[in-house]
Amino acid sequence: MTSHFESVVKADIERLIPLIESALLPPVSGGEAPKLREAMRYSLEAGGKRVRPLLCLLTAESLGKPAQSALSCAIAMEYVHTYSLIHDDLPAMDDDDLRRGKPTNHKVYGEGQAILAGDGLLTEAFGILAGDAALSAAQKVETFQILADAAGCRGMVGGQSLDLEGEVLCRSGKPYDRSHLQLIHRLKTGALLRASLELGAIAAGAAQDTRSALREAGAALGLAFQIQDDILDTTSTSDVMGKRVRKDEEKCKITYPKLLGLDGARKALREATERAIFLLQPIPNPASLIAWANILSMRTN
Ligand code: IPE
Ligand code: IPE
Ligand code: MG
Ligand code: MG
Ligand code: MG
Repeated sequence: MTSHFESVVKADIERLIPLIESALLPPVSGGEAPKLREAMRYSLEAGGKRVRPLLCLLTAESLGKPAQSALSCAIAMEYVHTYSLIHDDLPAMDDDDLRRGKPTNHKVYGEGQAILAGDGLLTEAFGILAGDAALSAAQKVETFQILADAAGCRGMVGGQSLDLEGEVLCRSGKPYDRSHLQLIHRLKTGALLRASLELGAIAAGAAQDTRSALREAGAALGLAFQIQDDILDTTSTSDVMGKRVRKDEEKCKITYPKLLGLDGARKALREATERAIFLLQPIPNPASLIAWANILSMRTN
């Protein structure tokens, strides 16, 4: 039987995915450097769940604004996320050969082009925001600030650095605690999820208190998302995930299931999800975002 949450999420996907897909590729069409453009398009077109752009659009809707008002923010988030995946898969990082059900970017285009495709997507994200005529100059500056913060050394890239250092820690058998692991997950994954909600809020012209509620909710949702990613790495299959599984053990990553066991990781996932839902309550129309928080915690890929 389909649950209420499943029906809400399904309807959101049917409504909003076509909007996202229609705006995804135009920024990287035509122009010079055809190989680079192809590599950028390859990873965008490979698919993916589009969780960040969906949450961005749903945030605008939860504040009574049309999804369209946050479309450039949503696309910018998917660009930054896709860049993070291309670089995450490089041999110097997680060394993966499968992503979104296809060979990874560097397997098809070579490491040099893959690095550049990531660089291109990150840079283009800021250009997309800058070019949105519907955002005021003040809104643009705010989106730049939040995206820079979330993608940079205080956010995703910082988390990726700690993630790599975590491998060294794991191999040396040195102890680490839950708060360190939580920091890695909050930065490497939580920061971009958080920014997805925040950019949606800025595009919707939200008041400061609503924005900070959404910021905190997004951070909790992001932590939950990465805990579930860790769990699925140990319990799912490559076919379902579209990427290699059992990689975390192989690379000696520090993860929730490794630190707390599967049951402990599931409990941490529940706690982070419940926190996100609690923080979403005061938002004007939180029903969709709450349904998403529930369904994401049960996702199978
Ligand atoms: C994968 O993100 C990387 C993490 C941050 C866990 P997603 O699970 O959202 O990947 P796609 O976009 O669906 O491919
Ligand atoms: C991904 O973490 C975080 C970023 C890409 C920023 P993982 O390394 O666990 O993601 P997957 O499992 O390769 O998708
Ligand atoms: Mg990684
Ligand atoms: Mg990885
Ligand atoms: Mg993973």
